Amino acid sequence: MDFVEQLKASIDIVTVVGEYVRLRKAGASPRYVGLCPFHTEKTPSFSVHSTHGFYKCFGCGVSGDAIKFVMEIERLTFWEAIKLLAERNGIPLPKRTEQADEETRRNARLYEMHELAVRLYHDALHSPAGREAKAYLSRRGVRGGMIEEFSLGLAERGGQVLTRALERAGFSHEEMELSGLVLRRQDGSGVYDRFRGRLMFPIHSESGKTIAFGGRALAAEDEPKYLNSAETPIYRKSWILYNLHRAKDGIRKNLRGVLVEGYMDVIGVYSAGIKEVVATCGTALTPMQVRSLKRHSDHLVLNFDPDTAGSNATEKSLQVLLEEGMRLKVLSLSGGLDPDEYVQQKGADGYRQALDQARGYFFWLADRARGKYDMNSADGRIAGFQFLLPAIQRMPDKLERLAVANDVADYLRVESGMVLDHFRRAASERGAAVVRSSKQEPPDPTETFLLHAILSNAEARREVLPVLSQMGAVRRFKARRIFEAIFRIVEGHQEPTFALLEARLEEGDRNLLASVLMAEEAAPEVSTDQAVACVRKLRAAEQATTRSDVKAKIKEAERRGDLQQAMALMRELRELES
Ligand code: UTP
Ligand code: MN
Repeated sequence: MDFVEQLKASIDIVTVVGEYVRLRKAGASPRYVGLCPFHTEKTPSFSVHSTHGFYKCFGCGVSGDAIKFVMEIERLTFWEAIKLLAERNGIPLPKRTEQADEETRRNARLYEMHELAVRLYHDALHSPAGREAKAYLSRRGVRGGMIEEFSLGLAERGGQVLTRALERAGFSHEEMELSGLVLRRQDGSGVYDRFRGRLMFPIHSESGKTIAFGGRALAAEDEPKYLNSAETPIYRKSWILYNLHRAKDGIRKNLRGVLVEGYMDVIGVYSAGIKEVVATCGTALTPMQVRSLKRHSDHLVLNFDPDTAGSNATEKSLQVLLEEGMRLKVLSLSGGLDPDEYVQQKGADGYRQALDQARGYFFWLADRARGKYDMNSADGRIAGFQFLLPAIQRMPDKLERLAVANDVADYLRVESGMVLDHFRRAASERGAAVVRSSKQEPPDPTETFLLHAILSNAEARREVLPVLSQMGAVRRFKARRIFEAIFRIVEGHQEPTFALLEARLEEGDRNLLASVLMAEEAAPEVSTDQAVACVRKLRAAEQATTRSDVKAKIKEAERRGDLQQAMALMRELRELES
């Protein structure tokens, strides 16, 4: 067995996927279900099969093994996924790294540069050069524990510190430029540090690798206030939420996430004991980011700054969040304080209380409408209601949509007749856009039974395959191509694992295979005796069919008066019967 096979055999796909998706066991079968992380859905069509080691979404069609899952969800290359799974499971990697492809080797260098930078910046903060930055942090209430926990650092003013360290570690200027941590001089004469005179916040992937930085200016006159890494092959801004790798356990445990705007807000809120807090990194919230939250909980409290920019961002984010089917509350802190300032001034308990009292998002929207329109006039109330409608229409659940619309109308004192009117119209517009999931023919019970036996019981496989592969009946199976692929794999002296098998099938048969193995009624264990009995029955049926075919041919030959043919067929029949 090569290393990849060995790795796959020693990890449990349910554990791997379970790090990113909430799964629950489906009945007695070794199958788990959850909401698909790769498309938006309300009812789970994403299944994970623990014994066969694969996942399949019956909604959007994605499927694969544990390695593919990690590749897709973390946006990693094949070898990066292998490495991550091996590290997570304490399995030593083989020394030969040359097996990795070029992209993986390049990315590995990028990760190394980031690791080096984290250490360098962090050491600088603790060095005499960091005295001013440390004083700044302590003025802002960031205690030592948080400096360590968040690996905060300092990029010194000089502009050569990181560049030199990277040079010493053997990185080329091209590699440095690619990392987004270093810039090339306009005249091309050399490179210099991108971050200078800044407090550094490492940004991590969901699995906890440092992939970028945010840097806050230390001098008030430095622009911009926050500077972030550029996009690189290992950093896609629109995919990443700051602090998600630390927050995800908290999000699951507390059944909610908290979304704030800034790095300092995350640290402030986190230090108040709210570990489920994340932030975007200076960009508008994207559907990808929402999905990465939703995998852990669909409840979220939005706590942006109470200023104009924060309110506008809240309004925009609400649309995205509702479209993705999140359940939302909005916390608007009093006194014009951002979350970090609030924690500093009112303490951890004060913040926690405010958080627990956050109200449904539509109250926030309604209050916003009140600020924009004159609620004393009927026209103003209607305009306010229309301002709220798009957000409500984006809710995926029809009943909830109607309930919320009624609540909002009530809150704004708008006639409920108008609400219904709007909804009828919207519903008819929606109707056209409904996508139907493709229906598939259900697999045959006998074929399902045999596939289970062959794929999960090696002894049964040895007993039945030689017989089965000689039977004409298999050529008439709905799943014949799956059986034929199994025959070929076994002929090649390999184990017919799900992955090997899937690789040989076309789309339609892949789906068939997945639905066979994921079938609710599938017997978890098929004994060898049961499998043998099943094949015997099939064979008896096949022989009976052949015999009656021959008998019909004999009759036909006799009718034609072709006695020679009839005699030949009778001999054949006797042979069949013996
Ligand atoms: P804020 O300006 O609200 O910053 O930006 P803050 O987090 O409250 O910072 P402090 O408290 O003054 O230190 C919120 C977030 O917007 C992004 C950053 O991600 C920041 O954390 N931002 C802000 C930028 O990307 N660039 C900027 O110039 C400013
Ligand atoms: Mn702030």
